[in-house]
Amino acid sequence: MNVESGKLKAGQARHPAESTQDIIARDKVKAPGWVASESYEYMGSEDIDTARYLSSEYQDEEFKRMWTRTWQFACREEHIPEVGDYYVYDIGKYSFIVTRVGENDIRAYFNACLHRGTKLRASGTEGSASEFKCVFHGWSWNIDGTNKEQVCPWDFPHANPEDLKLPEARVELLGGFVWINMDPEAPTLREYLGPEALAHIEAWKLEDRHIVCHVSKPIPANWKLNMEAFMEAYHVPETHPQVSPTNADVNSQYDIYGEHMDRFISSLGVVSPVHTGKYTEQDVLDMFTVGDSSIVTEKPEVPDGATARQMMADMFRENFEKAAKTDLSHISDSEILDCFSYTVFPNTFLFPGISLPMVYRFRPNPNDHRESLYEVMFLHPNPQDGSSYETSEVVHLTADQSFKEAEGMDEGFGGILDQDTDNLFLQQQGLEASAKGGMTLGDYQEIRVRHFNAAVDKYMAMEPKLPNWKELQRK
Ligand code: FES
Ligand SMILES: [Fe+2]
Repeated sequence: MNVESGKLKAGQARHPAESTQDIIARDKVKAPGWVASESYEYMGSEDIDTARYLSSEYQDEEFKRMWTRTWQFACREEHIPEVGDYYVYDIGKYSFIVTRVGENDIRAYFNACLHRGTKLRASGTEGSASEFKCVFHGWSWNIDGTNKEQVCPWDFPHANPEDLKLPEARVELLGGFVWINMDPEAPTLREYLGPEALAHIEAWKLEDRHIVCHVSKPIPANWKLNMEAFMEAYHVPETHPQVSPTNADVNSQYDIYGEHMDRFISSLGVVSPVHTGKYTEQDVLDMFTVGDSSIVTEKPEVPDGATARQMMADMFRENFEKAAKTDLSHISDSEILDCFSYTVFPNTFLFPGISLPMVYRFRPNPNDHRESLYEVMFLHPNPQDGSSYETSEVVHLTADQSFKEAEGMDEGFGGILDQDTDNLFLQQQGLEASAKGGMTLGDYQEIRVRHFNAAVDKYMAMEPKLPNWKELQRK
């Protein structure tokens, strides 16, 4: 560590400032193993071929080779708490009615009538059903996917109702999420993630949280560019100058876990190496707390020898304990304070840290490879006393609205998301204008971008695989 870069092998160089692990090691409440460890791998330094962002043909192939084989977060279990509840999840032209059929039985039906194909439930809808009836001629299905009624069965001696079960994607549950996969031959979700990635997701206990704010917005850039904008903290000093002073940005930590998950840890409450010497511990604390009366009611002072980071961890712990009526004494300072960002390939980000718990999801517009739908969900702990809670409905922003306009969005954070996404149209256009044909990546700070694209490449090298309805019917 901290050795002159000229003497290191590729991928071994790090910012000469202290590392994330150095910062975390000083904390009072010590971090568990999955935080206090590193898992970086060097994956080469070649440019990333940018043809992947630039054509509708490439995106069409992604739908045939990648989206039909990968595990995707369709909805949260909390979206469908009761038997008969359903939630429509679309990916490209594919659409699924994710339905709770029994207390522990969730299924994902291909959302198309088996008569002449009409969608059984409109995209973007959710609700409760005792049957799925087609609006065209009235054929209907029970919520367990069996055919309930064929109108005028005398005219369909060739279409046996027994053979008309709604085809299903596979469903697995993890972390309170409902994950689906269209490929009957895909590995299980647990195999897909691998034991290490799985252990991380399980450790964060995201099943004990619920959505308190859910915002979606179309972004004028390819879905992969949209994803990649959130994979590194390298952009923070330039794109988010207002948060850089109190964020270990260019000395964040990057890890990869198998083929389908990676993460960064960006420590908060420390001065960025970009700003070394410019701010005192008191300045750092003030930048976080002053003016936010929901966190503090009077300006706290950093005593001699104390650190802003430790004071913030103590304050955040106390405030979250009060707000959620729960005991967080065993949760490490890092889990309380720091920004943890995990990508679950292909299109989900988990930010499970306590101070800013979020989930992002990214989906391509199937009719325009230059547009993607970006969703941000904020999660809060479920009440410990078992009292009920509401799962927030999605707020749809238009492309020209600010994230700040979404109800429930913190204004400062909405501004950060605007900064992130305002760059993207320029990047899409620049890649189209570029004569380079490649993106050059940092070996360390941009490893998640490389890792993500390695998984894209893996699926794109496979033969197309389209869902076959007979193979997907329950036996
Ligand atoms: S298309 Fe659904 S009943 Fe005819
Ligand atoms: Fe950002």
